[in-house]
Amino acid sequence: MNKPNIVLCGAAGQLGQTLQALWPASVLCQHFNLVALSREDLDICNKGDVRAKLSSLNCKLLINAAAYTAVDQAEEEQDNAFAINDTGVENLATWAAENHAWLIHISTDFVFDGNGSSPYLPDSETKPIGAYGRSKLAGEQQIQRLLPDSGVIIRTSWLYSEYGNNFVKTMLRLMKERPELKVVNDQIGSPSSTHSLAELIFAMICKAHDCGEQVSGIYHWSDGGNISWFDFALAIQKQALQQGLLSTQIPVQPITSNEYPTPAKRPAYSVLDRSLTLSTIDCSNLNWEQQLQIVINKIAAFDSSS
Ligand SMILES: NC(=O)c1ccc[n+]([C@@H]2O[C@H](COP(=O)([O-])OP(=O)(O)OC[C@H]3O[C@@H](n4cnc5c(N)ncnc54)[C@H](OP(=O)(O)O)[C@@H]3O)[C@@H](O)[C@H]2O)c1
Repeated sequence: MNKPNIVLCGAAGQLGQTLQALWPASVLCQHFNLVALSREDLDICNKGDVRAKLSSLNCKLLINAAAYTAVDQAEEEQDNAFAINDTGVENLATWAAENHAWLIHISTDFVFDGNGSSPYLPDSETKPIGAYGRSKLAGEQQIQRLLPDSGVIIRTSWLYSEYGNNFVKTMLRLMKERPELKVVNDQIGSPSSTHSLAELIFAMICKAHDCGEQVSGIYHWSDGGNISWFDFALAIQKQALQQGLLSTQIPVQPITSNEYPTPAKRPAYSVLDRSLTLSTIDCSNLNWEQQLQIVINKIAAFDSSS
C-alpha cells in the first residue's frame, strides 16, 4: 500500500536535518513517507513551483522549516526576509488551504518585544523590535488568515543542534580560538534543541493520526528552564570539557547588551510559556541542560569520527 506523503520544506536547515535524522526511529515512518525538500528542490518564494511540486506529491501535511534566519542581516535585507518569511509562507498556506492540507509552521520568540518579565503566552501581545521578528510575525498572520483551522504555528527560542550555525557551535569554535570570551548576561530566554522540537512535531502528527485530533493555532516550545546567554556559554564549556570537545578552559566574562552592540536589537526577556503545549501534546519535557548534553554528545561523536 502506498503511504501518504508528509512534505518537509527547508530540509537542509538545522531543524530540517534533525527531522530527517530522527524520522527512521519515529513510529510515523510506518504510516507516512517523509519527502524532504531543500531550497534547491523547492523555493517557497516561487508560487508556481510551490503549487506544482506540492500538487504532484499529493501532500496532506506540510512541515515548514524553511525561513530567512539571519537576524542581523535582516535589518539590511528586509525585502528578502519578507519574501521568504511572509510571502513564502503565504504561498505554502494558500496551497494548503486550496488542497485541504495541514500546515505545521515554525516561528520565533522574536515576535515579542522582550519587555515582559513573565513567560509569554501564545496570545500575549506581539510587538517585534527588528525586521526578522516583523517578517516572522507577518508569516504567522498569513497562516492565521488562510488556515484558521488547519495551521499550526510553533514558536520556539534559541534553537540549536549539531547541524548548521547556532550559538552552541559558535561558542565551541570561539572557545578553541580565543584566550577569553565575553558573553551577554542581560538577555534571558530558554534554549531549544532541534531534537525536542522535532519530537514535538512528531507527537503532534501522532495525535492527529492516532486520535484524529489535529491541533491548530499557536503553541510555544522551548526546553525547560530560563537562563542568560552567559549561563548557556558556561554550561556549553563545562559539558564540552567533560566530553573532551575542549581541552582548555578559558575565562568567560559576563557583559551587558550595550557592551555588545548588534545591528538588530534582541528581546531582553523572551521566555515562552509552554503550558498549553505540555497539556495538549504528549511530548518529552527535558530541561535545557539535559537537551544540551544530547547535542554535545552528537557533536563529540561527529568530531571523533572525522
Ligand atoms: N535558529 C534560531 O535560533 C531560531 C530561534 C527561534 C525560531 N527559529 C525558527 O525555527 C525555524 C527553523 O530554524 P533553523 O535554525 O532550522 O533555520 P536554518 O538552519 O537557517 O534553516 C532554514 C532553511 O530554510 C532554507 N530556506 C531559506 N529560504 C528558502 C526558500 N525561499 N525556500 C526554501 N527553503 C529556504 C534555508 O536554505 P539556505 O541555507 O539555502 O538559505 C535553510 O536550509 C525557522 O522558522 C526559524 O525562524 C529559529
